[in-house]
Amino acid sequence: MIRFLLFTCALLTLLPHYCVAQNANVVIIPQPNLMVVQQTTFELSPATVIVYDKKTSKKDISHLQKQIQRETGLTLKATKKRKPENVIRFVTDYSITIPDNGYQLFVRNNEIEIRGNFAGHFYAIQSLLQLIRKENSKILIPVTNIMDHPRFPWRGMHLDVVRHFFGKQDVKNYLSWMARYKMNVFHWHLTDDQGWRIEIKKWPRLTSVGAYRNGTLKGHYTESPDVYDTSRYGGFYTQNDIREIVRYADSLHITIVPEIEMPGHVSALLAAYPELACTPGPFEVQRTWGVFDDVLCPSEKTFSFLQDVLDEVCKLFPGKYIHIGGDEAPKVRWKNSTYCQSLIKQHQLKDENGLQSWFVQRIVNYLQSKGKRAIGWDEILDGGLAKGAAVMSWRGEQGGLDAALAGHYAVMTPGSHCYFDHYQSAYPTEPLAFGGYTTVEKVYSYEPVPKILPKEKHEYILGTQGNVWTEYIPDFSQVQYMIFPRMLALAEVGWTQPGNKNWTMFKEKLPIHFSWMEREGIRYSRAVYDLKFIPKPNPNGPGILLHIETPDGLQAQYRIGKDQTMRTYVEPIPLQESAIVYAVSAKDELPVGAYNTYNYWHHLGSGNAVTLTPPPHQQYSNGGAFTLTDGITGNLPWKGSEWLGFLGEDLTAIYDFQKPTAIGSIRVVSLADEGSWIHGHRPVQVFASEDGLTYKAVRVKKVNSGFAQTPPLQEAFYQCQATTRYLKVVVPNSGIIPDGKPGAGHRAWLFVSEIIIE
Ligand code: ACM
Repeated sequence: MIRFLLFTCALLTLLPHYCVAQNANVVIIPQPNLMVVQQTTFELSPATVIVYDKKTSKKDISHLQKQIQRETGLTLKATKKRKPENVIRFVTDYSITIPDNGYQLFVRNNEIEIRGNFAGHFYAIQSLLQLIRKENSKILIPVTNIMDHPRFPWRGMHLDVVRHFFGKQDVKNYLSWMARYKMNVFHWHLTDDQGWRIEIKKWPRLTSVGAYRNGTLKGHYTESPDVYDTSRYGGFYTQNDIREIVRYADSLHITIVPEIEMPGHVSALLAAYPELACTPGPFEVQRTWGVFDDVLCPSEKTFSFLQDVLDEVCKLFPGKYIHIGGDEAPKVRWKNSTYCQSLIKQHQLKDENGLQSWFVQRIVNYLQSKGKRAIGWDEILDGGLAKGAAVMSWRGEQGGLDAALAGHYAVMTPGSHCYFDHYQSAYPTEPLAFGGYTTVEKVYSYEPVPKILPKEKHEYILGTQGNVWTEYIPDFSQVQYMIFPRMLALAEVGWTQPGNKNWTMFKEKLPIHFSWMEREGIRYSRAVYDLKFIPKPNPNGPGILLHIETPDGLQAQYRIGKDQTMRTYVEPIPLQESAIVYAVSAKDELPVGAYNTYNYWHHLGSGNAVTLTPPPHQQYSNGGAFTLTDGITGNLPWKGSEWLGFLGEDLTAIYDFQKPTAIGSIRVVSLADEGSWIHGHRPVQVFASEDGLTYKAVRVKKVNSGFAQTPPLQEAFYQCQATTRYLKVVVPNSGIIPDGKPGAGHRAWLFVSEIIIE
């Protein structure tokens, strides 16, 4: 294979760029399944003509013309007349040489030929667009042969427009970005507790009442007490808006799967039509996040209502699948309803899960009668899977696996790899996110077909999808940030045969796509270039040794404190006084990522070989006892790595200072995040010992440290007077979680990040 080098270096914008010699083999995302690139080029010019055959879609031609115009400024003519050269020729080919939705793209010196079927031409266009380079004011495409087709038929992206609402143009942009990366299913989460976002003519209160809420939670769901802003918030899509978006999606070969949640996540619906609940209400369009007990009552009135809604939904969306939700539907209302209990008896159902299955089966049958298929979140398996329903596996891969084993179709979208509302960077500067930590590399590593699924069942795995829940995504620029570049990684998971995937190559391809994002004004994350601070004890003295780890091929540049001199990191940095270390991944001394800071607090305990009895809980034992002496007082939002967790147990730390040492104060930095069952500690006790065997209590006095406390971070500051070689600090757990708090009756977590001894 001859390698063709293109030198591309995007313009400098906010961040200095990662300039690389771009190998033309290493450009297209998702990676084509067979691609050979040569050293010569085809030059695109105003004289280049698009030639197409009878079966070529006019929409595809028009898409190519528009995109070429947008990306190069060239307006290309299209014709059905034959022309010998300087053409982009479309040939429709349904022969077996090209798998369904596949294409062949031949870029020769004097012409480009695209052969494809179904959506194949469109996908060839996307590959072609990604190959275009400007060099010395020429628009060039490397001579290339590609043979390519998708691995999975469902390459999806989901968007929650309920928790936060995004207008028509935002949705269209989202679709256009999916299309660039050959994704073809848009899962549109249109209804939930916090809003109803689709006009239903027969039931107008769904939008006049259900589309608006009287405020929105501020900050994180798990923080307490809750704080709300009080502005009315909402919006919805009219049926005309929806038709326009459906037409646009169709021009991009994207099918829209609308989601109408049932029987749970229906607060907005019940606020509009309370008579469909099991209890009288009233209900409000929720202002906060989570799971709510009020669900639809499975009455004839409800079914008739849902059928009306689905009638209109089915007319608006031409695709085969309608998503009927089914997740997180608490059963307490059904348990307490004599009507529901009589239904369970009447239909000889096992329990409330059986009733949900019965509910779902009725809806599945109704949709089938209208020529549609239902898909639901994996909870629809809980009481037995409805015949004819497909499953969207989100609580792991088990749901998808069970469905496929039983001969049902499944879409794999496990929270662990496919939830793009999770953090993608461990930097403390990340915008607030739902939780979790899903790096672009982790997304890339995802394999949608469970290992233990027998080969003959593989066809039931339809594909995969990235989910974008928007509780903590208040505006569209943040949607962009959360999906770019994770969506690109998932696009490759869905399209490319596993044998052709390669993480190193994917990373090499990213800079050219980042340049495109910048040209398009898209906000994206450079977390793929994140560096890691790794503090270690310093065997040669007090304090710590700060190691910095960068991704392959990059080096760290750093500076310390007020000194502005940037240095290249070559060996661990000894820290023996309090200081802030600023560092960034760099290529040839040019920053390529975002800066990270290590805010080191030097104190008597820094780097001390402290022992902990008992050890921290294995789930939160990162870095071991050294975590308490690494000079880092824990960042928000907390993500585990700087914290030690103790479940129901006290923290007991023993320090050996090697010689009698005067102690004046102790600060304990801990968390109080009751929504996560993490409670503050009881009063700290301090003991001194000369021999490490017998300890005497040291009198402590709690004082106000004068530092602002940022909940859920908290700091307890104690004055004490002792001169001692050994020091024991006991931080008592708060014990059993009291009634009325989340997790009442369970053991509380104690989370401590640092004990500062001065
Ligand atoms: C879900 O994340 N509740 C499907």
